[in-house]
Amino acid sequence: MKRVFSGVQPSGVLTLGNYLGALKNFVRVQAEHDCLFCVVDLHALTVPQDPLSLRGNVRRVAALFLASGIDPDRATIFVQSRVSAHAEMAWLLQCLTWFGELGRMTQFKEKSQGKETFSVGLFTYPTLMAADILLYDTNYVPVGEDQKQHLELTRDLAQRFNRRYGDLLVVPEPMIARVGARIMALDNPRAKMSKSSDTPDSYISMLDDPDTIAKKIRRAVTDSDNAIRYAPQEKPGVSNLMSILSLCSGRSLEQLEEDFAGKGYGQLKQAVAEAVIAELEPIQQRYRDIVNSNTLDEILDRGARRAQELAAATLYRVQQAMGL
Ligand code: AMP
Ligand code: TRP
Repeated sequence: MKRVFSGVQPSGVLTLGNYLGALKNFVRVQAEHDCLFCVVDLHALTVPQDPLSLRGNVRRVAALFLASGIDPDRATIFVQSRVSAHAEMAWLLQCLTWFGELGRMTQFKEKSQGKETFSVGLFTYPTLMAADILLYDTNYVPVGEDQKQHLELTRDLAQRFNRRYGDLLVVPEPMIARVGARIMALDNPRAKMSKSSDTPDSYISMLDDPDTIAKKIRRAVTDSDNAIRYAPQEKPGVSNLMSILSLCSGRSLEQLEEDFAGKGYGQLKQAVAEAVIAELEPIQQRYRDIVNSNTLDEILDRGARRAQELAAATLYRVQQAMGL
């Protein structure tokens, strides 16, 4: 069975973008692959975090994994900081990463831009992500479009390591969906939907109530030509709503163009709101049962034990090969 690994940062409540671009695909791939899904709390520390909120957010993200349908009997769910091999492997890989390579990462450039100071961790973050992936002999990494460049770096590092020290690391491949890999902000469909946005109207939280969801979708920016057609460059707002509806309803984009021929944006928005609410409501119900349960702790303990075992074996091989 091929191995799948992916991570989600506990830096706030997850958005519909995280769900459609990542979590929903995690659920889809778990049947055919040996999956590890990680709450990457070490990554969250690259920007300042309040310790109490961070601890709560780790729990909330893990509970949302389960509520979304990740089955702990099939997939391993764990918290990154419980497996110390991640930080150790990251150091070893940092010594193989060029300074210039990290300077070219667009996410680093965006997040550091205009800031007077930012942490070195923000700069080296992609190497930690490579460590996460390479520790588990990962074949596939399901992620949204924004992580593509980080995955290319991960592949480069694995190949560089293998050339220098012998064929030890599996070179992973990204798994990026055709639709939904980049859900856009509702108030600005040229920017990615992000949980770190300052305007709550720009994103739908996985825990928003139905009225809030409907209100945010009603306010979503569209355009003035009133044609319902998928054209992301020309009509980013309408195309974004169509992607969301397609993923939440199981109808293809072509089908939606047919179904909405001659209809207006009001009708499209109404359908999007209903589909999103129908998708998220059962998840929210399960979430409320899970988030404060002891079962969650047991699942995370079990996950950490399995991850520790797998990671320790890879780390040992890597250390040996490097002469440590
Ligand atoms: P993050 O919240 O940055 O840890 O992202 C977790 C996962 O969600 C990654 O695979 C991202 O690529 C994905 N993701 C985040 N935002 C979006 C978005 N707006 N559209 C699609 N995928 C996203
Ligand atoms: N960098 C990813 C993000 O911000 C999160 C992440 C960390 C990740 N480690 C990973 C994703 C390993 C996939 C595989 O979204």
